[in-house]
Amino acid sequence: MQIIHTISELRQIVSNYKQAGQVIGLVPTMGNLHQGHLQLVEMAHSKTDIVICSIFVNPMQFGEGEDFGQYPRTLDSDIDKLKQVACDIVYVPAVDEMYPESQLDGRDQTQVIVPGVSDVLDGVSRPGHFTGVATIVSKLFNMVQPDKAIFGEKDYQQLQIIRQFVRDLCFPVEIIAHPIVREASGLAMSSRNGYLSNVQKQQAAFLYRTLQILSDQIINGLRDYSMLEKQTELQINKQGFICDYVKICSSDLSPAGEKNHNLVILLAAYLGKTRLIDNIQITL
Ligand code: PAJ
Repeated sequence: MQIIHTISELRQIVSNYKQAGQVIGLVPTMGNLHQGHLQLVEMAHSKTDIVICSIFVNPMQFGEGEDFGQYPRTLDSDIDKLKQVACDIVYVPAVDEMYPESQLDGRDQTQVIVPGVSDVLDGVSRPGHFTGVATIVSKLFNMVQPDKAIFGEKDYQQLQIIRQFVRDLCFPVEIIAHPIVREASGLAMSSRNGYLSNVQKQQAAFLYRTLQILSDQIINGLRDYSMLEKQTELQINKQGFICDYVKICSSDLSPAGEKNHNLVILLAAYLGKTRLIDNIQITL
């Protein structure tokens, strides 16, 4: 497994592989890797010849007062974990390599704004977050020029935004979704779970149980989505969370109506200072 820090080195290696006819897969991450990330790498390996995993804690996608400084950086153990799965190249650029000559972590340079789908849910609670994500993922696509890139459904809205800008900007990259990887308790794996105490981790599993109950209610015929959302928010708050939102949407993230058969329920809630997100998809 090769570890690369610069764009020039990366381009050279990738172009050699491409000339040899190899199909390139990219798994972008912010590191602190868990089983969710590693399954994305495995999936990339099953669909491509050369797997590149990028590790970059992207300052542009963190808002003021968010956890950029505190975000766990565990490069040595990440590299050990990637050696255990079929990763060929780890790309670990420095902030200067990704945002050269910028005084504002790229905010004073060209950005990729995805209107509509970025303006709801997490886009409301975390202004600028998805512009940071779309910008860095576009830059990674231009640096790596992958044939395929794998993203997790854990970040459902992020996945839709990436699909949108890939279509809008004609990136020749196939976007592949991986299902959410969960702990035995049902808690969706996340680097931010590391902020939780053991007791909080058990408590956090309530969120997925809530999504399952809500999805059963809808499958069993309940259709007053706004009442269901409010009721679920109250239940989440009663369990000691501060609920940010519970939304029943159609799969493109517009509000769900009677005619939609492919739905996704998304929620975000704080447990202490930790912001957790989860979602569940339903077909009626
Ligand atoms: P990060 O949170 O490190 O996640 C990297 C990838 O792993 C994303 O595609 C995410 O959806 C996926 N992932 C995380 N937890 C998962 C789980 N439990 N099950 C399945 N997939 C999971 O998402 C980001 O980083 C960044 O925004 C990034 C796309 C790298 C841009 O900076």
